[in-house]
Amino acid sequence: MAFELPALPYDKAGLAPHMSAETLEFHHGKHHQAYVTALNNFVKDKPELQGKSLDDIVKMSYGKPDMAGVFNNAGQHWNHILFWNCMKPKGGGAMPGRLEQKIAADFGGVAQFKDAFKTAGATQFGSGWCWLVVGKDGKLKVSKTPNGENPLAQTGEMAILGCDVWEHSYYIDYRNRRPDYLTAFVENLVNWEYVDSLLAKA
Ligand SMILES: [Fe+2]
Repeated sequence: MAFELPALPYDKAGLAPHMSAETLEFHHGKHHQAYVTALNNFVKDKPELQGKSLDDIVKMSYGKPDMAGVFNNAGQHWNHILFWNCMKPKGGGAMPGRLEQKIAADFGGVAQFKDAFKTAGATQFGSGWCWLVVGKDGKLKVSKTPNGENPLAQTGEMAILGCDVWEHSYYIDYRNRRPDYLTAFVENLVNWEYVDSLLAKA
């Protein structure tokens, strides 16, 4: 069965003014769609990928030079699915208690976590992502990855929050001001209830 572009879990204009309808029109409708289309074309031509889940394809194609095209598009499909779900209209604000307590325990405080997350995103050179990850030791940590890579591929660890720092995610609304985009993401866009629900599953 072919992979599909998931519908956004909110109206295209729902994240404005922090992320515009125009950004979502291009980012979701064009960029994410292109990853899905390319992934499906690879799967069509490679019997070993047919019937595999997206997680399986991400893991089995990572680090293999002859599967680089497969990985880039599968990774980006996986990353964007998480990204859309990690935002909501009127996001940001207070976190659910369980998540806040876990973040405070592992980072020393919510402010310290937010600084670490925004720094990871701002210092990812070129295209990539920053993440909040449940580490193998059960502790939360922040990381960053280039291009379409993600924690699932690199270590098998579970990301419970991801922010796209490719220029296509912020250039329409923020031009070159990636740090301003990261601040808006953390303070006004994140769906902390969704992040908390992933923490509960991890
Ligand atoms: Fe993107």
